[in-house]
Amino acid sequence: MGPVGLLLVVLVVLVTIPTALPQSVIQITPNKHISDSRKLGANDNLYCDSWRFSVETNDAGTWSSIPSRCVGFVQEYMSGERYASDSGVVANYSLAFGEAVKLGGDGKDAWVFDIDETLLSNLPYYEAHGFGSETFNEKYFDEWVDLAEAPAIPASLNLYKGLQRLGFKIFLLTGRSEFQRNATVKNLLYSGFNYWERLLLRGPSDKGKLATVYKSEKRLELIDQGYRIHGSSGDQWSDLLGFAVARRSFKLPNPMYYIA
Ligand SMILES: *[C@@H]1O[C@H](CO)[C@@H](O)[C@H](O)[C@H]1NC(C)=O
Ligand SMILES: *[C@@H]1O[C@H](CO)[C@@H](O)[C@H](O)[C@H]1NC(C)=O
Ligand SMILES: [Mg+2]
Repeated sequence: MGPVGLLLVVLVVLVTIPTALPQSVIQITPNKHISDSRKLGANDNLYCDSWRFSVETNDAGTWSSIPSRCVGFVQEYMSGERYASDSGVVANYSLAFGEAVKLGGDGKDAWVFDIDETLLSNLPYYEAHGFGSETFNEKYFDEWVDLAEAPAIPASLNLYKGLQRLGFKIFLLTGRSEFQRNATVKNLLYSGFNYWERLLLRGPSDKGKLATVYKSEKRLELIDQGYRIHGSSGDQWSDLLGFAVARRSFKLPNPMYYIA
């Protein structure tokens, strides 16, 4: 086979690989630019992987939308097997920690879960909104919440049930507001979550508070009520940092948005 034949074979393979590949690779046209676009794609991939490291570790601090060159990367990360794998490994470490906790047997051993991108996935919404590249639109997002059809993150559902079997009391602490309580309960039940101890949403007095402050205050209330918060799971650092922090905090991946 000559070089032209080989190139054709490569192209046919590239075009027929399923959509898990980044857009930049799928959309290449069979012309002389092929090597250029592939090199650019590789550079984006490398950069965006480093960018993802910095946002997950909070090195990046506050950010409002994903870099435009990383839309394809985030799409592939979220829709492909990497997000499922990363959240699966986090869930496994979380459960291993939970299994090692010696429970008090007094019903005061607690685990705190955030909801969005921790138990429920809003990926269907973000698929329709540029994977975090569009400015956040509260009205559209609230309409999506009202539908109450966000699917469970499978690894988190497994963790949730595992912790319940171990005897932890589950507290759901979300940045969603009280007016979204019914839709949130409906969605949680629809996705397989049940028997939580309490669902804590932002009330009127929590309006405008930074998530870190609001969530810390709520955890402090639980501690004041005698609960021991062994573990806390969240996709945002603001779910986990502040005061009254859990003994162990577990950060889930989220390269789509940042909440201070
Ligand atoms: C998590 O643990 C389960 C049970 O040990 C295992 O089957 C699964 O492969 C693990 N998941 C990951 C992503 O490592
Ligand atoms: C929420 O559900 C409860 C019980 O089903 C109902 O009484 C209440 O009116 C609902 N609240 C809203 C805001 O829809
Ligand atoms: Mg969240």
